[in-house]
Amino acid sequence: MGIKLTFLQILLYGTLFILAKTEPVEDKQALLDFITNIFHSRNLNWNERTSVCDNWIGVTCNQNNSRVIAVRLPASGFRGNIPLNTLSRLSELQILSLRSNGINGTFPSDLLKLGNLIGLYLQYNDFHGPLPSDFSVWKNLSVLNLSHNFFNGSISPSISNLTQLTALSLANNLLEGDIPDLNVPSLQYLDLSNNNLTGVVPRSLLRFPFSSFSGNNFLTENSLPPVPPPTTAPRRHSSKFSESAILGIVIGSCVVAFVSIALLLIVTNRKKKNDDITTTKKGKSKKRMVFENQESNSRITFFEGCNLAFDLEDLLRASAEVLGKGTFGTTYKAALEDATVVAVKRLREVGVGKKEFEQQMEIVGNIRHENVAPLRAYYYSKDEKLMVYDYYNRGSVSALLHAKRGENRIPLDWETRLKIAVGAAKGIAHIHSQNGGKFVHGNIKASNIFLNSKHYGSICDLGLATLMNPITPPGIRTTGYRAPEVTDTRKASMASDVYSFGVVLLELLTGKSPIPTSGGEEVIQLVRWVHSVVREEWTGEVFDVELLRYPNIEEEMVALLQIAMSCVARMPEQRPKIGEVVKMVEEIRSFHGGHNSPSAGTRSPDSTPTLTPNVTHEIGSSSINT
Ligand SMILES: *[C@@H]1O[C@H](CO)[C@@H](O)[C@H](O)[C@H]1NC(C)=O
Ligand SMILES: *[C@@H]1O[C@H](CO)[C@@H](O)[C@H](O)[C@H]1NC(C)=O
Ligand SMILES: *[C@@H]1O[C@H](CO)[C@@H](O)[C@H](O)[C@H]1NC(C)=O
Ligand SMILES: *[C@@H]1O[C@H](CO)[C@@H](O)[C@H](O)[C@H]1NC(C)=O
Ligand SMILES: *[C@@H]1O[C@H](CO)[C@@H](O)[C@H](O)[C@H]1NC(C)=O
Ligand SMILES: *[C@@H]1O[C@H](CO)[C@@H](O)[C@H](O)[C@H]1NC(C)=O
Ligand SMILES: *[C@@H]1O[C@H](CO)[C@@H](O)[C@H](O)[C@H]1NC(C)=O
Repeated sequence: MGIKLTFLQILLYGTLFILAKTEPVEDKQALLDFITNIFHSRNLNWNERTSVCDNWIGVTCNQNNSRVIAVRLPASGFRGNIPLNTLSRLSELQILSLRSNGINGTFPSDLLKLGNLIGLYLQYNDFHGPLPSDFSVWKNLSVLNLSHNFFNGSISPSISNLTQLTALSLANNLLEGDIPDLNVPSLQYLDLSNNNLTGVVPRSLLRFPFSSFSGNNFLTENSLPPVPPPTTAPRRHSSKFSESAILGIVIGSCVVAFVSIALLLIVTNRKKKNDDITTTKKGKSKKRMVFENQESNSRITFFEGCNLAFDLEDLLRASAEVLGKGTFGTTYKAALEDATVVAVKRLREVGVGKKEFEQQMEIVGNIRHENVAPLRAYYYSKDEKLMVYDYYNRGSVSALLHAKRGENRIPLDWETRLKIAVGAAKGIAHIHSQNGGKFVHGNIKASNIFLNSKHYGSICDLGLATLMNPITPPGIRTTGYRAPEVTDTRKASMASDVYSFGVVLLELLTGKSPIPTSGGEEVIQLVRWVHSVVREEWTGEVFDVELLRYPNIEEEMVALLQIAMSCVARMPEQRPKIGEVVKMVEEIRSFHGGHNSPSAGTRSPDSTPTLTPNVTHEIGSSSINT
């Protein structure tokens, strides 16, 4: 299926639309004037005879097709200047994206006529010359991205007049002069890096990270003079700060700012427990959103420390593809206009009200741990509940283990499997420590584990089980990851999380899945199968054939198998606590001090539970070495 739908189309799929066959004739002509006067290598289907609103690539009209409101033509092979008096006639235009083209010339000043612009994306072109001297007309502008061009000259202070600005990138240009004191409280993302700016970082901008300003004149390392001793140095009275002083101020104020923000957060957190305390984007009219249900506060709620800047509208217009269908909903990969890619989970069967949902999201969204995939944002309305996560391009552990089996796939090596196990165990331990030590994940499985930047396991999708309508397992025997005592998905416990994690460990060891996967292998009852192999006749055949190529790992595999078996103990009270599991998994590597000979066999047989003591010996002497 080559067709890419937008998120909007997915949400509206099945809804009958009766569109009036009107179209904005003047806007259409403006677009035709544009396209016929600029070189482009991508073939656009902008045909005079077809409807500009229904068919034209990259063009979006408003609800009643009376005006064009968005033009998105990234990477369309444009060359040369933007023809004058063409796009500027689209007076209702809100989004203009011409990023990643080869457009040159100076800043197209007639774009300043587009007073309704909300997002302007011109990054990765060849524009040169000065930036506009007066930005004030763009009263509604929220995202301005002019990065990766050749703009020179200084940044006009009038940019402070963009009171709705949430994201500004002027990075990778040739800008010089001072940074104006951009007093724009709504600004959440700022990138001025890699220019030739000088002077002091203004107070109002000290809340942004260092990286926002790096690669400029006043912060280059080799120009830093040695730091004078603080007490003996004579006070400077000149208005120019030394570069080291600037650096000091930046660092010092960052710390101060950080502490004050932290305090502020704690205070506001206390003050308005149940209010909407998280950062949200402000000030944009979303009246056109048909499914918004006129709920006044249905908007995307972002969590602290999140650099994402988009709104519901951007999300809905993102091109989306299905990543997977899970117990609680379908997950999509959504590629936003500004090249941000996120994973969006669309929940079905939410069984609780808004308040309870938001409370749970508050807990989940504030969990930050290197082994827990952060929830970035969520959206709640009567009809739609969406959760936004980071997108992991390597896919889930399930995909890493099972995708393309039998074909020429890159095997998942043992090192990585161990790191997945350690990371995931730590993540679960952290989750269990939340909410006063009462927090349960409820849906641990390989497709909810991803690899973090250091290739350790990272747990996703927590805290949903209690929000959902109960899902009764179709038959008690086909449990998959579910502990035998769990008959109602809402009744998951810490012990059942440990059980599910044990199944994941078995999956890492055997390469077999307890549930149907896209790899299309045979589904087995993993726990029962492993039990039977271990009980009846021990051979190396329990382990994934892909692992056979790695020498000297049998001891570690057996150790992990023992841990897995203790986790999937039938009685909940016989299973170890996740903290103990973390310890045991970590000890696998420190056990025999790295890769020693597998036949060393010095491990005390009673140091680990369950399996018969001679297992180590048998596996050591079996012929699984290749
Ligand atoms: C179309 O909708 C806009 C608001 O989105 C409104 O201002 C305009 O009058 C409408 N035009 C027609 C022809 O209905
Ligand atoms: C702009 O691009 C066009 C087409 O690639 C080229 O002919 C022209 O010389 C360029 N102008 C400048 C100022 O770089
Ligand atoms: C900006 O670059 C142009 C050449 O592209 C040059 O003529 C102009 O003097 C530069 N302006 C500044 C302020 O450096
Ligand atoms: C902001 O805009 C007003 C007029 O809209 C203008 O008078 C003022 O100079 C602008 N501010 C800056 C900092 O340029
Ligand atoms: C601006 O564009 C750059 C380059 O594509 C991108 O890395 C950055 O995330 C963009 N920022 C915003 C706010 O659009
Ligand atoms: C950066 O600015 C300095 C003076 O402030 C100038 O000497 C230097 O040539 C500039 N570099 C670039 C790449 O424009
Ligand atoms: C900006 O947005 C507001 C609503 O948020 C809208 O009323 C107005 O027409 C828009 N355009 C300008 C130029 O202010």
